[in-house]
Amino acid sequence: MAIQHTARGAERAQRRDEQYVWHPWSPIDAAGQRVMADRARGHRLWDADGTEYLDASSLNSTCGYAHPAIVEAAARQLGRLHGVDLSAQSHEPSGLLAERLAGHLPGGLSRTLFTNSGSEGVEAACLIAASHWAHRGRPRTRVVTFARGYHGSTTLARSLSGLPPTSHAFRDPLRVTPVDLPADHRALRAPEFAPRLLADFATAVGGDPSDPPMAVVVEPLLNVGGGAVLPPGFLRGLRELCDTHGTLLVIDEVFTGVGRTGRMFGFEHDGVEPDVVVSSKGLSGGYAPLAAVSVQQRVYRTFSEDPVLGGLRYGHTTSGHAVSCAVGLATLDVVEREGLVENSRAMGARLLDGLAPLAGASGVVDVRGLGLVAVLELASPEAAAALAGSARHHRLLVRQQGTAVMAVPPLTIDTDAVDEVVARLSAAAREGGG
Ligand SMILES: Cc1ncc(COP(=O)(O)O)c(C=O)c1O
Repeated sequence: MAIQHTARGAERAQRRDEQYVWHPWSPIDAAGQRVMADRARGHRLWDADGTEYLDASSLNSTCGYAHPAIVEAAARQLGRLHGVDLSAQSHEPSGLLAERLAGHLPGGLSRTLFTNSGSEGVEAACLIAASHWAHRGRPRTRVVTFARGYHGSTTLARSLSGLPPTSHAFRDPLRVTPVDLPADHRALRAPEFAPRLLADFATAVGGDPSDPPMAVVVEPLLNVGGGAVLPPGFLRGLRELCDTHGTLLVIDEVFTGVGRTGRMFGFEHDGVEPDVVVSSKGLSGGYAPLAAVSVQQRVYRTFSEDPVLGGLRYGHTTSGHAVSCAVGLATLDVVEREGLVENSRAMGARLLDGLAPLAGASGVVDVRGLGLVAVLELASPEAAAALAGSARHHRLLVRQQGTAVMAVPPLTIDTDAVDEVVARLSAAAREGGG
């Protein structure tokens, strides 16, 4: 059926959406309030009525919308070989992408399992950690993580999180020791909080020597947990702690990976080498479902000891889909060719500078950020929702997570567009959105 790009077509699309589509992670009564996106290019997006927005709300936008190199790569792969089941056959794009990822990761992190989503990737990482310990004849099943972390919406992945929306009916599929943040988000990023936070992790990891954790799973910057920037030195200390207890360090780079924080990976800010890295959103820039679980070769090698298969007992029919891998490869090409990690660092600094004067004014209690993640903290979730709504009236799309309003533009954004984000968000805040 042809899509009708007319005012009546837009109205019908809205009604159809309200009647038939069940939107994830949103209240039922939010129906009719969202932008009905119709087309997009770069950082601009048009709704079905033709209204133009600057989109700083897409958590997975690396290269912006409709980047010709990625569209071309996807179409070419779709026409050549859309995919095969990697449990039975293989294809070149998966090898090329795994090899390219290895080139961006430290040392031995050179074996990659592909999945379709970040949640699956984190879930696979937990299964890999548990299996690794079983293969070594020293079973471990406990995980230490942030209480305010978010690692996905599948049962195992959501069990890692203490955020209220992730609670679920299937009790304790995973033994988790949660660590609370020792300070509010405003204070946390100061370097002096690293020792406090590490002391809490030390208790969680080593408190019971008879029950060492199989893994510590953390994000380098808490996304859904409210855009919390962690203190410098924390991941370095955590690496040492994991080494002391022989625990695997799993870094969830689903949101932060591929340039979002101004480094290729968030853990690079602290110069650590994780045991497992999960990347997803930025890797395919939203053009195709894709996640990558990259593990150290020494972890991979233990899987020959698996008693049932002699290998990994995990996967999905579309894991490592050829089109997704081709898209991932094209995304990394663009990231390298256009210097998007450096651009993220430079544009992120400009964005943060521009927004900094809002701190302490218009209901904004904190302005913080890292790379192209800029966070305005409001006094309440209601005030944050009001600011995001007001920004939309200024034709700027931003994201709200609890009391945080986050501007996460594509890594391709330029200085003019950054200044536009600043102007529109500042105007929205001044008008009492906050
Ligand atoms: C840090 C982190 N981990 C995992 C996930 C889950 O990824 P997905 O939504 O692709 O399942 C998200 C999604 O927001 C995330 O931000």
